[in-house]
Amino acid sequence: MKPNHFEQESADMLAAIMGARRDVRGNRFIDKPVAADILSQIFAAAEMAPSVGFSQPWEFVVVNNMKTRRALVDNFNQVSTQAQKAFSQDKQEQYAALKLEGIMEAPVNIAVFYRPSRLPVLGQSSMEETGRYSVVCAIQNMWLMARALNVGMGWVSILEAAFVKEQLNAPKDAELVAYLCLGYVNEFLEQPELEKLNWERRKSIRSCILEESY
Ligand SMILES: Cc1cc2nc3c(=O)[nH]c(=O)nc-3n(C[C@H](O)[C@H](O)[C@H](O)COP(=O)(O)O)c2cc1C
Repeated sequence: MKPNHFEQESADMLAAIMGARRDVRGNRFIDKPVAADILSQIFAAAEMAPSVGFSQPWEFVVVNNMKTRRALVDNFNQVSTQAQKAFSQDKQEQYAALKLEGIMEAPVNIAVFYRPSRLPVLGQSSMEETGRYSVVCAIQNMWLMARALNVGMGWVSILEAAFVKEQLNAPKDAELVAYLCLGYVNEFLEQPELEKLNWERRKSIRSCILEESY
């Protein structure tokens, strides 16, 4: 294989990793530490992500302190109980049975922040949100690299960003983008759990592609 040229085989491999990636929660993590070298590869994947104006506006806080994690789970429970009420009665029952975080169970917890640049960023002037999108690119790289290393990752968004910031002593301008839980798992489901449970269906990508205009 030439260094900058890939064959179909590589694309197939990438698609296989993408297809096998799952969001993983606390009911799947197993008690097996993630070695430093594995975690480094996952962070290296974040480093390779594209970012607006090459601003690389991401910062990561690795959270090991169990007291902090406990406080975050309490916050999750509060937010989740409120969030559940927005759904129909049927869905509320389904929601209650779902495990939607893995903060205590996952060996690795990482809070991901967007740290806006104080200087102008090439490409960001008319779309300020591209800074946040860049952080999401880094997260997706991590998710895929984790999966390629057989490490599961879950994205927890059912949290109050201000509470997480306070717990982690985050500076004022740091914005929480994601709270990630990582670890080895007993199983990677073959399809999204929410699809399996008929909460949502997968849309065909064809139905999302328009010609010329809306
Ligand atoms: C921005 C974002 C936030 C999410 N927040 C949560 C969450 O708080 N709790 C949870 O269980 N899953 C969360 N998920 C996972 C989604 O539910 C999951 O990606 C989706 O159901 C598809 O499943 P899959 O990732 O296994 O393919 C989040 C995913 C994204 C991209």
